[in-house]
Amino acid sequence: MTSRHKLGPTDDPHLLYQEAVQSPEVDARLIDRHFKKLTGRPAKAFREDFCGTALLACAWVALGPDRKAVGIDLDRPTLAWGRQNNLSRLSDDERRRIDLVRADVRKVSQPKVDVVAALNFSYCVFKTRHDMLDYVKNARLSLKPGGMLFMDVWGGSESQTEHRDRTRRRGFTYVWEQRSFDPISFHADCRIHFEFTDGRKRRNAFTYDWRLWTLPELRDILEEAGFKDIHVLWETSDRNGRGTGVFRRAERTAAEKSWIAWVVGRT
Ligand SMILES: C[S@@+](CC[C@H](N)C(=O)[O-])C[C@H]1O[C@@H](n2cnc3c(N)ncnc32)[C@H](O)[C@@H]1O
Repeated sequence: MTSRHKLGPTDDPHLLYQEAVQSPEVDARLIDRHFKKLTGRPAKAFREDFCGTALLACAWVALGPDRKAVGIDLDRPTLAWGRQNNLSRLSDDERRRIDLVRADVRKVSQPKVDVVAALNFSYCVFKTRHDMLDYVKNARLSLKPGGMLFMDVWGGSESQTEHRDRTRRRGFTYVWEQRSFDPISFHADCRIHFEFTDGRKRRNAFTYDWRLWTLPELRDILEEAGFKDIHVLWETSDRNGRGTGVFRRAERTAAEKSWIAWVVGRT
């Protein structure tokens, strides 16, 4: 299975989002390798929280015939889109090993899995410490003994400003807009727009009313929820200071304007 649909001229926001934002094979391999490195065994059962179109869950079952995945999301139409456009591209055997559930991620703790992953910062919908702790506690409850939680995190001085980032993709430009950021609450109004080479625009294709969480806050919350060996995977940089896509365990690092990292905890 490959995540890359052939992207002709399209207005489909899910296709554009997947192309612009997601790297499911890279993420699945990172999780797989890191789990094996720390536990000495492969992770088999995987859960993608806030799965949206479940592209990562699809990449997970494609890792091998012993892999299973559950994707959980609240939004029925998005799950239906994932079934029609992503699960449909799996082999019959892969499709049998994946299950999509429409539910609140805080309310599901079965079946127990080796890995829970919450990516693309989706947990930022939880705006209070109470709600975030509730989520992380439930993630822990959903893990088998020796299981691991992976969350990606974004930050840096730029993340606490109003700004726009433009990234060129084949046939379109992906625009990430942080329309507002409140330094008191850390609430951020974030939007994704798409602009096409023929001049058309799709503004506010996705909007997020989020709280930006910091690494120390998340580490404290994981600790309070009972996780152990809580650590950060930090992206290495090349000689020009550009991210390499390779993440290494780090205890200290230098300040950067904009960064993405992972926070990981073990049961
Ligand atoms: C930013 S999208 C993430 C899509 C995909 N996981 C990714 O990595 O790009 C956030 C998703 O979280 C879902 N969501 C928000 N709150 C949720 C909750 N409490 N339980 C389950 N899903 C939730 C939304 O329906 C949406 O599909």
